Amino acid sequence: MKNRVILADNLAVLRRLPDASVDLVYIDPPFNTGRRQVRREIKTVPDADGDRTGFGGRRYRTIRIGARSFEDAFDDYLAFLEPRLIETRRVLRRTGSLYFHIDYREVHYCKVLLDALFGRECFLNEIIWAYDYGARTRRRWPAKHDNILLYARDPQAYYFSVEELDRIPYMAPRLVGAAKAARGKLPTDTWWHTIVSPTGKEKLGYPAQKPLGVLSRIVKASCPPGGVVLDYFAGSGTTGEAALRAGRSFILVDNNPEALRVMKRRFAGRPEVEFIRGAGRPPSIGPGRRS
Ligand SMILES: C[S@@+](CC[C@H](N)C(=O)[O-])C[C@H]1O[C@@H](n2cnc3c(N)ncnc32)[C@H](O)[C@@H]1O
Repeated sequence: MKNRVILADNLAVLRRLPDASVDLVYIDPPFNTGRRQVRREIKTVPDADGDRTGFGGRRYRTIRIGARSFEDAFDDYLAFLEPRLIETRRVLRRTGSLYFHIDYREVHYCKVLLDALFGRECFLNEIIWAYDYGARTRRRWPAKHDNILLYARDPQAYYFSVEELDRIPYMAPRLVGAAKAARGKLPTDTWWHTIVSPTGKEKLGYPAQKPLGVLSRIVKASCPPGGVVLDYFAGSGTTGEAALRAGRSFILVDNNPEALRVMKRRFAGRPEVEFIRGAGRPPSIGPGRRS
């Protein structure tokens, strides 16, 4: 299947996708923080009177070269999500699953909604993605984690494989044999992983960009090789990158032209990726596998 990046409202695209056509859905919707999410892009130039000090005490001036943003305030958040989640369940294959990425502000409401739509028996995990970055309040415990809810379309049939997974170091390697320590252990439902560093190579300048390491783990565990991954709040396209690298196909949807621009940059020189404006044409899923 050709990989698709679609600029459109995701509900319109979801409604055109065939039943039982997708192996894995990962979504990272706006978290309803109540404010617009903005990522400013800056560059620094040498300037004796500049606002920053660099290596060797040299002075630099900061110049703003742009900003990317998306809206993140909803009057009725669950009413926004519900029709999309109903379609999600419909488009998932019987072996498929949903990873729903959210944070402490809305996770409990979303879990109740997902239990109602998928069935409580379909809930598999609440993954805690813990990171350590940014300011720390002194007025309560600083919130440094996101929540990723995992639901199976069918708890008797879902695909889950640890074969391709990255392994992590033992906390006390001397308590296990040398061979085990060298191999590492399988991750649990608590994932320590750094955020996308604002100055690192992975960063594309899109607000709320998620780390490739987190998405690679999800794709490899819950989408079979050659399967189809759908992310309809795609942002910078991290899920697509993880899918391509792991030999899976993808459909990415975002309604923000800035996201499309970032994804065009991300997938530049990848002829197997097609860019589509508008939900008009139903994305063809190809022969693929069926459960
Ligand atoms: C938190 S960001 C996703 C970030 C992404 N996971 C990444 O790694 O870059 C949420 C995205 O949802 C998009 N979005 C919000 N409402 C949408 C809608 N109705 N249809 C399609 N995309 C939407 C926003 O434009 C934004 O890019």
